[in-house]
Amino acid sequence: MPIPKVLVFAGSIRTGSFNGRLAALAAKEIARAEAEVTRISLLDYPLPLYDGDVEARSGPPENAVNLKRTFCAHDGVFIASPEYNASLTPLLKNALDWISRVREHREPPLAAYRSRVFALGAASNGTHGGMRSLMALRQVLELGCGALVIPEQIAVREASQAFDENDDLRDERSAGLLRTVARRLVEVARQFG
Ligand SMILES: Cc1cc2nc3c(=O)[nH]c(=O)nc-3n(C[C@H](O)[C@H](O)[C@H](O)COP(=O)(O)O)c2cc1C
Repeated sequence: MPIPKVLVFAGSIRTGSFNGRLAALAAKEIARAEAEVTRISLLDYPLPLYDGDVEARSGPPENAVNLKRTFCAHDGVFIASPEYNASLTPLLKNALDWISRVREHREPPLAAYRSRVFALGAASNGTHGGMRSLMALRQVLELGCGALVIPEQIAVREASQAFDENDDLRDERSAGLLRTVARRLVEVARQFG
């Protein structure tokens, strides 16, 4: 059976980010589900705020092209998405917007979003666990970018208490749900491999 490649990152670059911790844990579970995992930080892909004039003058920035190619080198993508005012972070939205503008070698539009599968998670100190961010992100990916997003997702609430000293999830149900998300992502990613 082919080993699918899965990319994992968080929509936060904050030191100690709950979503960074969720991404790290998701990476472990995805590897356990027998995928080859690449974890990146958006810190390594700084991008200007999207501006159509910048794009018209010089095209998408190099980091947008690099990120797009990184997406394209994987069969699946897991995104841990923080919630800002009931939506995704501007950092994540800006990166996704820039990627959507990269078009190479006469490929069809939105190549980075098609031909691979996405899975979502969120962590927040609030009682919704970032669920509204996941709804907004799902809309961007599915309706905006034509991506396939698996229905299984995880929202970790009261995130400051949710992780133990090993950065595992304390709550068994949440830990089980993350395993389910990881397994399903790998299963579908395998079909794209
Ligand atoms: C501008 C802003 C808006 C926020 N809005 C929400 C919100 O709507 N719901 C929520 O649960 N948390 C909200 N938060 C709290 C974030 O979820 C919290 O800062 C979280 O730690 C961010 O994720 P991170 O730890 O991965 O950086 C907001 C934080 C900021 C800075």
